[in-house]
Amino acid sequence: PHFAVVVVAAGSGTRLRGGAPKAFVALDERSILHHALRGVFMARPAQVVVVVPAGHEATALDVARDVAAGDTRPVDIVAGGTTRQESVAAGLAVLRDDVDTVLIHDAARALTPAAVFERVMARILAGAVAVIPTVPVVDTIKRVDVNGRVVAAVDRSELAAAQTPQAFRVSVLRAALNSVEADHTDDAALVAAAGHDVVVVDGDAVAFKITTTPDLERARALLAAAPL
Ligand code: CTP
Ligand code: MG
Repeated sequence: PHFAVVVVAAGSGTRLRGGAPKAFVALDERSILHHALRGVFMARPAQVVVVVPAGHEATALDVARDVAAGDTRPVDIVAGGTTRQESVAAGLAVLRDDVDTVLIHDAARALTPAAVFERVMARILAGAVAVIPTVPVVDTIKRVDVNGRVVAAVDRSELAAAQTPQAFRVSVLRAALNSVEADHTDDAALVAAAGHDVVVVDGDAVAFKITTTPDLERARALLAAAPL
Protein backbone atom coordinates (compact mmCIF):
# COMPACT_ATOMS: atom_id res chain seq x y z
CA PRO A 1 0.00 0.00 0.00
CA HIS A 2 0.89 3.66 -0.38
CA PHE A 3 0.49 5.38 2.98
CA ALA A 4 -0.19 9.02 3.69
CA VAL A 5 -0.37 10.59 7.13
CA VAL A 6 -2.81 13.45 7.76
CA VAL A 7 -1.86 15.31 10.93
CA VAL A 8 -4.81 17.27 12.27
CA ALA A 9 -3.44 20.33 14.04
CA ALA A 10 -6.17 22.89 13.32
CA GLY A 11 -7.76 23.02 16.77
CA SER A 12 -7.58 26.15 18.88
CA GLY A 13 -6.75 24.41 22.17
CA THR A 14 -9.48 26.11 24.19
CA ARG A 15 -9.01 23.77 27.16
CA LEU A 16 -5.23 24.23 27.19
CA ARG A 17 -5.34 28.04 26.87
CA GLY A 18 -1.68 28.05 25.86
CA GLY A 19 -1.67 31.52 24.28
CA ALA A 20 -1.48 30.09 20.74
CA PRO A 21 -3.29 27.38 18.78
CA LYS A 22 -2.38 24.16 20.62
CA ALA A 23 -0.08 22.76 17.91
CA PHE A 24 2.16 25.83 18.24
CA VAL A 25 2.52 25.70 22.02
CA ALA A 26 6.10 24.87 23.07
CA LEU A 27 7.05 21.60 24.79
CA ASP A 28 10.76 22.34 25.03
CA GLU A 29 12.47 24.58 22.49
CA ARG A 30 10.14 22.89 19.99
CA SER A 31 6.39 22.97 19.53
CA ILE A 32 3.77 20.27 19.92
CA LEU A 33 3.53 20.13 16.10
CA HIS A 34 7.28 19.68 15.76
CA HIS A 35 7.31 16.73 18.14
CA ALA A 36 4.23 15.20 16.53
CA LEU A 37 5.86 15.36 13.10
CA ARG A 38 8.97 13.52 14.29
CA GLY A 39 7.04 10.28 14.74
CA VAL A 40 5.22 10.89 11.46
CA PHE A 41 8.38 11.26 9.37
CA MET A 42 9.98 8.24 11.03
CA ALA A 43 7.10 6.17 9.62
CA ARG A 44 8.30 7.15 6.11
CA PRO A 45 4.87 7.70 4.54
CA ALA A 46 4.56 8.52 0.83
CA GLN A 47 2.87 11.84 1.65
CA VAL A 48 2.44 14.00 4.74
CA VAL A 49 -0.46 16.43 5.07
CA VAL A 50 -0.60 18.91 7.96
CA VAL A 51 -3.94 20.59 8.68
CA VAL A 52 -3.57 23.86 10.60
CA PRO A 53 -5.69 26.89 11.53
CA ALA A 54 -6.04 29.30 8.59
CA GLY A 55 -3.22 31.84 8.70
CA HIS A 56 -0.71 29.40 10.24
CA GLU A 57 0.26 27.62 7.01
CA ALA A 58 3.65 29.33 6.60
CA THR A 59 4.71 28.60 10.18
CA ALA A 60 3.62 24.97 9.81
CA LEU A 61 5.63 24.62 6.59
CA ASP A 62 8.74 25.88 8.41
CA VAL A 63 8.18 23.33 11.18
CA ALA A 64 7.67 20.51 8.65
CA ARG A 65 10.82 21.47 6.71
CA ASP A 66 12.78 21.56 9.95
CA VAL A 67 11.60 18.08 10.99
CA ALA A 68 11.99 16.63 7.47
CA ALA A 69 15.60 17.87 7.34
CA GLY A 70 16.34 17.22 3.70
CA ASP A 71 13.81 14.44 3.33
CA THR A 72 12.08 15.21 0.03
CA ARG A 73 8.78 13.41 0.49
CA PRO A 74 5.79 15.61 -0.38
CA VAL A 75 4.40 17.73 2.45
CA ASP A 76 1.15 19.63 2.01
CA ILE A 77 -0.13 22.22 4.45
CA VAL A 78 -3.85 22.99 4.35
CA ALA A 79 -6.26 25.05 6.44
CA GLY A 80 -8.66 23.13 8.68
CA GLY A 81 -12.31 23.63 9.61
CA THR A 82 -14.29 24.42 12.71
CA THR A 83 -14.68 20.75 13.70
CA ARG A 84 -12.09 18.02 13.76
CA GLN A 85 -14.12 16.13 11.16
CA GLU A 86 -13.96 19.10 8.79
CA SER A 87 -10.22 19.26 9.31
CA VAL A 88 -9.91 15.57 8.45
CA ALA A 89 -11.95 16.17 5.29
CA ALA A 90 -9.69 19.09 4.33
CA GLY A 91 -6.67 16.81 4.65
CA LEU A 92 -8.24 13.99 2.64
CA ALA A 93 -9.03 16.46 -0.15
CA VAL A 94 -5.34 16.86 -1.03
CA LEU A 95 -4.25 13.21 -0.96
CA ARG A 96 -2.33 12.14 -4.02
CA ASP A 97 -4.06 9.70 -6.33
CA ASP A 98 -1.56 6.91 -5.63
CA VAL A 99 -2.28 6.98 -1.88
CA ASP A 100 -4.63 4.15 -0.91
CA THR A 101 -4.24 4.14 2.87
CA VAL A 102 -4.37 7.13 5.19
CA LEU A 103 -3.32 7.46 8.82
CA ILE A 104 -5.17 10.23 10.65
CA HIS A 105 -3.11 11.50 13.57
CA ASP A 106 -3.79 14.09 16.27
CA ALA A 107 -0.94 16.60 16.56
CA ALA A 108 -1.96 16.82 20.22
CA ARG A 109 -0.60 13.25 20.70
CA ALA A 110 2.82 14.78 20.29
CA LEU A 111 4.91 12.04 21.91
CA THR A 112 3.46 9.08 19.98
CA PRO A 113 6.36 6.66 19.37
CA ALA A 114 7.21 5.53 15.83
CA ALA A 115 6.48 1.96 16.96
CA VAL A 116 2.76 2.77 17.18
CA PHE A 117 2.76 3.91 13.54
CA GLU A 118 4.59 0.71 12.62
CA ARG A 119 2.08 -1.54 14.41
CA VAL A 120 -0.86 0.22 12.75
CA MET A 121 0.71 0.02 9.28
CA ALA A 122 1.63 -3.65 9.77
CA ARG A 123 -2.00 -4.50 10.51
CA ILE A 124 -3.08 -2.74 7.30
CA LEU A 125 -0.46 -4.74 5.39
CA ALA A 126 -1.99 -7.86 6.95
CA GLY A 127 -5.31 -6.99 5.28
CA ALA A 128 -7.34 -4.81 7.68
CA VAL A 129 -9.38 -1.89 6.24
CA ALA A 130 -9.46 0.09 9.50
CA VAL A 131 -6.98 -0.07 12.40
CA ILE A 132 -6.78 1.91 15.63
CA PRO A 133 -4.28 1.85 18.50
CA THR A 134 -5.80 1.43 21.95
CA VAL A 135 -4.66 1.25 25.54
CA PRO A 136 -6.38 -0.53 28.43
CA VAL A 137 -8.69 1.56 30.60
CA VAL A 138 -7.13 1.81 34.06
CA ASP A 139 -9.97 3.51 35.92
CA THR A 140 -13.08 1.72 37.12
CA ILE A 141 -15.87 3.04 34.92
CA LYS A 142 -19.48 3.61 36.06
CA ARG A 143 -22.56 4.34 34.04
CA VAL A 144 -24.27 7.28 35.79
CA ASP A 145 -27.86 8.49 35.26
CA VAL A 146 -29.11 12.09 35.02
CA ASN A 147 -29.78 12.13 38.75
CA GLY A 148 -26.16 11.43 39.52
CA ARG A 149 -26.79 7.84 40.61
CA VAL A 150 -24.65 4.91 39.54
CA VAL A 151 -26.67 2.71 37.22
CA ALA A 152 -24.16 -0.01 36.60
CA ALA A 153 -20.51 -0.81 36.64
CA VAL A 154 -19.09 -1.26 33.18
CA ASP A 155 -16.92 -4.32 32.65
CA ARG A 156 -13.48 -2.84 32.19
CA SER A 157 -12.21 -5.87 30.27
CA GLU A 158 -14.53 -4.88 27.43
CA LEU A 159 -13.21 -1.32 27.25
CA ALA A 160 -10.26 0.22 25.47
CA ALA A 161 -9.24 3.86 25.10
CA ALA A 162 -8.72 4.87 21.47
CA GLN A 163 -5.63 6.74 20.35
CA THR A 164 -4.21 7.84 17.00
CA PRO A 165 -2.82 7.30 14.35
CA GLN A 166 -5.96 5.60 13.02
CA ALA A 167 -5.50 3.99 9.62
CA PHE A 168 -8.11 3.49 6.91
CA ARG A 169 -8.41 2.44 3.34
CA VAL A 170 -8.91 5.89 1.77
CA SER A 171 -12.04 4.88 -0.15
CA VAL A 172 -13.63 3.55 3.05
CA LEU A 173 -12.96 6.71 5.07
CA ARG A 174 -14.15 8.99 2.24
CA ALA A 175 -17.39 7.02 1.88
CA ALA A 176 -17.96 7.06 5.65
CA LEU A 177 -17.39 10.82 5.84
CA ASN A 178 -19.96 11.34 3.10
CA SER A 179 -22.60 8.94 4.42
CA VAL A 180 -22.59 9.34 8.19
CA GLU A 181 -24.55 12.32 9.49
CA ALA A 182 -23.73 12.47 13.17
CA ASP A 183 -20.60 14.10 14.52
CA HIS A 184 -18.25 11.44 15.83
CA THR A 185 -15.33 12.07 18.14
CA ASP A 186 -13.02 9.86 16.14
CA ASP A 187 -12.68 8.60 12.62
CA ALA A 188 -12.99 4.95 13.59
CA ALA A 189 -16.45 5.60 15.06
CA LEU A 190 -17.49 6.97 11.69
CA VAL A 191 -16.12 4.00 9.77
CA ALA A 192 -17.69 1.55 12.23
CA ALA A 193 -21.05 3.37 11.89
CA ALA A 194 -20.73 2.85 8.13
CA GLY A 195 -20.55 -0.89 8.80
CA HIS A 196 -16.83 -1.69 8.54
CA ASP A 197 -14.73 -3.83 10.87
CA VAL A 198 -12.27 -1.77 12.90
CA VAL A 199 -9.44 -3.74 14.48
CA VAL A 200 -7.12 -2.71 17.29
CA VAL A 201 -3.38 -2.84 17.88
CA ASP A 202 -1.50 -1.83 21.04
CA GLY A 203 -1.17 1.91 21.53
CA ASP A 204 1.25 3.43 24.01
CA ALA A 205 0.75 5.33 27.27
CA VAL A 206 3.02 8.14 26.05
CA ALA A 207 0.72 8.71 23.06
CA PHE A 208 -1.69 10.46 25.44
CA LYS A 209 -3.48 13.53 24.06
CA ILE A 210 -2.29 16.88 25.39
CA THR A 211 -5.63 18.42 26.33
CA THR A 212 -5.23 20.31 29.61
CA THR A 213 -2.42 22.10 31.44
CA PRO A 214 -1.48 19.04 33.53
CA ASP A 215 -1.13 17.07 30.27
CA LEU A 216 1.19 19.76 28.92
CA GLU A 217 3.26 19.64 32.11
CA ARG A 218 3.48 15.85 31.87
CA ALA A 219 4.70 16.02 28.27
CA ARG A 220 7.28 18.65 29.21
CA ALA A 221 8.49 16.56 32.16
CA LEU A 222 8.83 13.45 29.97
CA LEU A 223 10.92 15.38 27.46
CA ALA A 224 13.06 16.92 30.21
CA ALA A 225 13.74 13.45 31.64
CA ALA A 226 14.45 11.87 28.24
CA PRO A 227 15.15 14.56 25.63
CA LEU A 228 14.43 13.46 22.05
N1 CTP B 1 -8.48 19.50 15.48
C1 CTP B 1 -8.47 20.01 14.19
N2 CTP B 1 -9.49 20.84 13.78
C2 CTP B 1 -10.48 21.18 14.64
C3 CTP B 1 -10.48 20.66 15.94
C4 CTP B 1 -9.46 19.81 16.35
O1 CTP B 1 -7.57 19.71 13.40
N3 CTP B 1 -11.42 22.02 14.21
C5 CTP B 1 -7.35 18.65 15.91
C6 CTP B 1 -6.55 19.30 17.04
O2 CTP B 1 -5.60 20.20 16.49
C7 CTP B 1 -5.94 18.11 17.75
C8 CTP B 1 -6.93 16.98 17.47
O3 CTP B 1 -7.82 17.44 16.46
O4 CTP B 1 -4.65 17.76 17.26
C9 CTP B 1 -7.70 16.59 18.75
O5 CTP B 1 -8.50 17.69 19.16
P1 CTP B 1 -8.46 18.37 20.60
O6 CTP B 1 -7.49 17.67 21.46
O7 CTP B 1 -9.85 18.56 21.03
O8 CTP B 1 -7.76 19.79 20.26
P2 CTP B 1 -8.46 21.23 20.23
O9 CTP B 1 -9.78 21.14 19.55
O10 CTP B 1 -7.44 22.16 19.69
O11 CTP B 1 -8.63 21.51 21.79
P3 CTP B 1 -9.97 22.04 22.52
O12 CTP B 1 -11.05 21.03 22.23
O13 CTP B 1 -9.57 22.12 23.96
O14 CTP B 1 -10.25 23.40 21.92
MG1 MG C 1 -11.38 19.94 20.41
